[in-house]
Amino acid sequence: MDSVERPNWAPDDIDLGRPSIARVYDYWLGGAHNFAVDRAVGDKVLADVPVLKSVILNHRAFLRRAVRFMLSQGIRQFLDLGSGIPTVGNVHEIAQSTDPDARVVYVDVDPVAVAHSRAILTGNELVNVLQTDVRDAKQVLESTEVQSLLDFDRPIGVLMVALLHFVPDSDDPHGIVADYRDAIPSGSFLAISHAGYEEGEWDPAWDDAKTTYNRGVSEMTYRRKQEVQALFDGFELVEPGVARLPLWRPESPDDLDENSAHFLSFGAVGRKP
Ligand SMILES: C[S@@+](CC[C@H](N)C(=O)[O-])C[C@H]1O[C@@H](n2cnc3c(N)ncnc32)[C@H](O)[C@@H]1O
Repeated sequence: MDSVERPNWAPDDIDLGRPSIARVYDYWLGGAHNFAVDRAVGDKVLADVPVLKSVILNHRAFLRRAVRFMLSQGIRQFLDLGSGIPTVGNVHEIAQSTDPDARVVYVDVDPVAVAHSRAILTGNELVNVLQTDVRDAKQVLESTEVQSLLDFDRPIGVLMVALLHFVPDSDDPHGIVADYRDAIPSGSFLAISHAGYEEGEWDPAWDDAKTTYNRGVSEMTYRRKQEVQALFDGFELVEPGVARLPLWRPESPDDLDENSAHFLSFGAVGRKP
């Protein structure tokens, strides 16, 4: 496998034979930083649930709107947790197009995501990239990358977009969110988008896709609306609260994708009082 495909952007220490969350996601988003194994599992899942492609785009569109909303509230520094492989509309591009002095720290555990982030960010002094597991909030918050760039006396926008469904209940997602919440000052914001569905909505046709992804890439935990809301403990949710992604402050008819409006995802933004 290794001799067949190792593009020059691939870090030496990664296993080209195992799909990763970040690379499969990159493939679904139309990116170029993925391998044959990622595309194979990605295609298999999409064959069972074609609408998933729209759902993924909804997460990216939610990220864009959440960042723009935070910018409108005066936020100028962002901590993007589980930031993924850079693609179109990255947080620093959105933020720095409003304010060239906006600061962003990207954090991801995936070596390809981090290597590509570092490559495109060379020379941008106001953006740092950290490779670590976001479940260890202390390690993230005390890192040089975070401490040298973010000012904890000023509000911070924390982003957990399409991340927490990769954190099982046994790893205490509430506790992880609370660790970040307790570290940021009043007036800070948190954005979460999350895979989930309500009672009676699950379509058995999706079972195969779920099994393929869980076995091939990573176990996912779908959470109900109330469970997503509970992650915002200690925050005041901004309107419209926890919503289907396309219904969270849509900015154009394109955001209101009827196909996927009611499918498998929620998003919300909260403000720390
Ligand atoms: C579905 S992608 C979302 C990427 C990006 N937030 C977006 O919305 O486009 C999830 C990302 O979270 C990262 N991730 C998952 N669990 C993680 C963890 N425990 N620590 C750090 N990153 C994690 C994956 O590597 C992947 O890049």
